[in-house]
Order: sequence, then C-alpha cells, then structure tokens
Amino acid sequence: MDRRTFLAWVGVGWVASSLPVALAACSSNSTKSDNSTNKATAANPTPSAEGFQPVGTVAELDRKGQILNKQLASGPVLVIRNPDNANNLAAVNPTCTHKGCTVAWKTNKKLFVCPCHDSEFAVDGKVVEGPAKKPLPTYEAKIEGDSILVKVS
Ligand code: FES
Repeated sequence: MDRRTFLAWVGVGWVASSLPVALAACSSNSTKSDNSTNKATAANPTPSAEGFQPVGTVAELDRKGQILNKQLASGPVLVIRNPDNANNLAAVNPTCTHKGCTVAWKTNKKLFVCPCHDSEFAVDGKVVEGPAKKPLPTYEAKIEGDSILVKVS
C-alpha cells in the first residue's frame, strides 16, 4: 500500500467514525433548541397560563439590586427584593404618578424615588412624600428557577 492509498483509507475511516458523533451532536442541539424556543425568558416574555411574564434573572436582580424591564406590552415593571424579607419580591409600575418620570429603588432609603421632583414611594407603592398623590401600581412577582416572573394583568 502506497502513502496516497493509506491516507485515503485513513480519511474515509475518520469520516465514517465521525458521522455518528456529528449526527448525535445535531440531534442533541435540535432538542435543546426546541426546549429554548418553548421557554419564556426576559428576552422572550411570553406570558404563562397564569399571566406571569419573565422580566429578568435572579442573578441580574442580585447584581443590580433592581430589575427595570420596559419590554412588556403592558408597560414598564421595576422589581426589587423586599427589604423586610429578601425571599419576597416587590414589583411596581415605575412610572411616577406625578408627571411620568421613571422612579428608581434607593436601597439606603428603602424607597422608590422619583428623580424629577423627589416623590417617594414605599415598597408597596404608597406615596411617602409628594408631590405625587397616587400610589404606584403594584404587581405580584415570584422567582421560578433562575427567572423573575411578574403578573402584570
Ligand atoms: S414626575 Fe415624579 S415627582 Fe414629578
């Protein structure tokens, strides 16, 4: 057997032995792909049967201290861990009821604070300090796996 014939046989053998691995890898990937398309994520906020929608991840919440999601069709949502019980979440519509600026959670004050005219809202959305007079709408929120889910409807 000359060198060229030997290399041709090695090449055929390599392709033949790699084929099952390549097919398994393809079928494995397509299964993962199918699962990921069905899974609701913050980037794909499909509401569940109960009306909960993903707005972010637990890792993001713990890193930033709050999650502001403006991607939902129903309007923006701001989620924090309840300062009185970190296992519970609090979710509000962060649109200030005074003139519509977006409030942010201030950990040191344990309040939602509006940057425009300094209205302050408690964790349950109630007005602590005006000029705003109406509370922030609140939503039910929960952790499921690594996802933060909010029921906005
Ligand atoms: S818009 Fe928030 S206090 Fe005025």
